[in-house]
Amino acid sequence: MILITGGAGYIGAHVALELMNKDEDVLILDNLCNSQRSAIDRISTLAGRRPGFVQGDVRNRHLLDTLLRDYPVDAVVHCAGLKAVGESVHEPLRYYDNNVGGSLTLCQAMAQAGVFTLVFSSSATVYGDCTTMPINESCATGQPTNPYGMSKLMAENIMKSVASSDPRWSIGLLRYFNPIGAHPSGLLGEAPLNQPNNLLPYLLQVASGQREALSVFGTDYATPDGTGVRDYIHIVDLAQGHTCALEALGQRSGVNIWNLGTGRGYSVLELVSAFERVSGVPIPLAFKARRPGDVTCCWADPQKAADELAWRARHSLETMLADAWRWQCNQLQTEWVQQAN
Ligand code: NAD
Ligand code: WQD
Repeated sequence: MILITGGAGYIGAHVALELMNKDEDVLILDNLCNSQRSAIDRISTLAGRRPGFVQGDVRNRHLLDTLLRDYPVDAVVHCAGLKAVGESVHEPLRYYDNNVGGSLTLCQAMAQAGVFTLVFSSSATVYGDCTTMPINESCATGQPTNPYGMSKLMAENIMKSVASSDPRWSIGLLRYFNPIGAHPSGLLGEAPLNQPNNLLPYLLQVASGQREALSVFGTDYATPDGTGVRDYIHIVDLAQGHTCALEALGQRSGVNIWNLGTGRGYSVLELVSAFERVSGVPIPLAFKARRPGDVTCCWADPQKAADELAWRARHSLETMLADAWRWQCNQLQTEWVQQAN
């Protein structure tokens, strides 16, 4: 059985579904601070059976000890965490407490229970302002410019120390690039509870008339069209990276770092044009100054994951955007039906 912390969230829910599709038993631990119980029902609908679900906090040591005693957990995928970069600047202690404290408590409980296989949701943000593209795993980690990024780097460092202290540990640090898109069924996707900060969730709200215009942060970057370039990866590809990592960790010990990206960067304007093509919906733009802390370019060298995990991202940018738009339209329809009743 695989324990997924944060398994009701955007990434965790897709990981849960992929694992269940591979006949794994899944137990989800989530405090629902940024997700809803309905995600569990949607995973069940798509998988044809229910994952185990416990509403609770990963920082609750007593709860973790109980779960690891009562369920036959072989490995943990640790997705639980807070992820809003801007919010982390204003509430650093909440971010360190949740993201670093949660990881620490989880590692302690796992060690005590004798569960030593762990996959961690890390982020390309740990590379900081790396200027050599593409970024491979031996690039030095930088100095993240915000507490969120710092909390990911700190959690990685805790896991590295833990792994060097005891050879029974087998840890995969997955450095995600920019996950976007939704499950092709339109039943699982990202559902931001507050105003979104990330490009695609904001764009989707503009496309569906909930917001007036998409701000383009910076038009004077040293890129072909002046806007920032990122490596957008389909959420289903990303989730499959986790199942491959878990499989590979069966034959590996220590800490293993894998980039999960496509290896191809797109600018903000390229992404907007592709969305307009795919959806037929024009996106009003508002050109703004650069957003503080943003890097010019960021895209992965995904070769290590290809060699060691036999994994690569398969979905095109168009598919990511079409799937995201289907999810957004379904969400709106559900809201209308609920309001009408
Ligand atoms: P999300 O907010 O949709 O999911 C996180 C889930 O964790 C939520 O369901 C939330 O309720 C839960 N959670 C938070 N704190 C918890 C706690 N203390 N105990 C139990 N549950 C808790 O975010 P996501 O996009 O699915 O991200 C998952 C992980 O991946 C996070 O750790 C995030 O930092 C990391 N990550 C995300 C991205 C991205 O762009 N989405 C990129 C890189 C890394
Ligand atoms: C992408 C591009 C913006 C919004 C962040 C975190 C990173 C990871 C993923 C969790 C940039 C531009 C954005 C908008 C815009 N998260 N943009 N208008 O900044 O690459 O990464 O999310 O780990 O840690 O830092 O993603 O989607 O916010 O921005 O022009 O309204 O879109 O400037 O060039 P980012 P993003």
